[in-house]
Amino acid sequence: MSDSAVSLYKLKGGMVGMGMIFDETYRPFFENAFRDGVYDPRTGVIKLEIAAVASRTGGRAAKYKESAGQSINDFSSYIEPDSVGQLLTHDVDFVCVATPDDRHFDATMAAIQAGKHVIVEKPSVLSMQELDAITAAAGEKQVLCKVVYHKLFDPDHKKLRTFVTDGVLNHINTGYCTLLEPKQISGAQFSEWIQGRNPGTYVAVHYIKLIDFTFGGTLKSISCSGQRGIVGEADGNTWDSTQLRMVYEYASGREATFDIHTSWVTPDNFPGYVEQEVQFRFDNGIWNGHSRKRGVECTVEEQTPLTIKNSMNNHYNGTFVEPNGSRSQRGYGIEVLEEFAREVAYVEHGLDDLTRQQRIAQLSNGYYNDITSDRQTVATVHAMEAILEQHAAGNPDCVVRVNQEAGGLVLYIPGQAEGVVLYEGQV
Ligand SMILES: NC(=O)c1ccc[n+]([C@@H]2O[C@H](COP(=O)([O-])OP(=O)(O)OC[C@H]3O[C@@H](n4cnc5c(N)ncnc54)[C@H](O)[C@@H]3O)[C@@H](O)[C@H]2O)c1
Repeated sequence: MSDSAVSLYKLKGGMVGMGMIFDETYRPFFENAFRDGVYDPRTGVIKLEIAAVASRTGGRAAKYKESAGQSINDFSSYIEPDSVGQLLTHDVDFVCVATPDDRHFDATMAAIQAGKHVIVEKPSVLSMQELDAITAAAGEKQVLCKVVYHKLFDPDHKKLRTFVTDGVLNHINTGYCTLLEPKQISGAQFSEWIQGRNPGTYVAVHYIKLIDFTFGGTLKSISCSGQRGIVGEADGNTWDSTQLRMVYEYASGREATFDIHTSWVTPDNFPGYVEQEVQFRFDNGIWNGHSRKRGVECTVEEQTPLTIKNSMNNHYNGTFVEPNGSRSQRGYGIEVLEEFAREVAYVEHGLDDLTRQQRIAQLSNGYYNDITSDRQTVATVHAMEAILEQHAAGNPDCVVRVNQEAGGLVLYIPGQAEGVVLYEGQV
């Protein structure tokens, strides 16, 4: 960004995890912000740089540095062991956590303890106990801790929520969602950390959050089934596909049930990058959404459907030649990160008369992307993980009930009268 611009301040970011999602969304976010700064009416233009990155081996960080060239500032790269600890010795204002989901907690906690604002990929953490610990630490250290759910920024989902908020669609009854990832994800991309993991936590969580955020209500129960045998052993603890069911209750006393089917073993020659479909049924209407079939179908000899997909989502994160000839990469997957950068800029360099503490209070404690707003989503993930663990241990068909007398999350195993308390506090 040129020095003649109006910005007075600079924000420095740290990046933990340099994998697929870094390439898709964080890279264009950092490069766009490095070039143009970050603008918010509450702050004016603020410069932004990536100061340091942490990853397991540093291989992709080195490749990135080389390929990005002048599109990004120079930055330090740290590797394991203790890559995050080394990164935190840097003068950074915020840290982005995009490690595999079972490693979010450690990196997020370390960054908060070091007094840094954090944005963490979905799902924020895997248990309510971890969520409580992070929430308390962020409050104590007076930093923002935010979670990335880019589906809330998808224009179609914003319209759905607008219809619900405005009473155009009345009372959700039932819904189903599906998100299917290609085999290359489980087979190649995630081979380092796939052992013991499941596609529900990885992708159903997008829809868990969408449902929780769009329709509100109180989570009542969670159940989940799953299949094995492609990514791992047929009786092991690594899952090919999962079918999650959540039951919610609303202020009217009426319930709604949602089914979310996910997998990461769809053939690689599938015509889209992923398959994503939803249907929500209301007292007075039906919402059918298909993120892949939004209108484009393209065939290119010798390229589709492998190097280019036939159907593409140009709203999430697309590379374009703009009408004025410049190249851009933009979409709601990047917007969600820009929004966080504006929040950090406001907290640190807001032009109003509020204190830093007051600004933090405004943007946390129930603010939509704050860690405190992730309780029912994390509760569902926590329950799903426990149900799948029981299934792998020979106890399929468990159900977790929420906010019982015995505890906030209680797991019931078929044939056993007593529930197992997963979380004592109220969800
Ligand atoms: N928002 C989305 O749509 C979306 C899409 C894909 C992934 N994600 C999320 O992003 C996160 C990462 O996914 P990915 O697809 O980029 O995975 P990936 O396997 O491609 O990359 C993971 C990265 O984390 C690094 N890493 C692993 N362990 C580490 C540790 N202990 N300390 C520091 N770095 C470590 C690896 O070196 C690698 O750079 C996951 O939480 C995933 O759920 C989100």
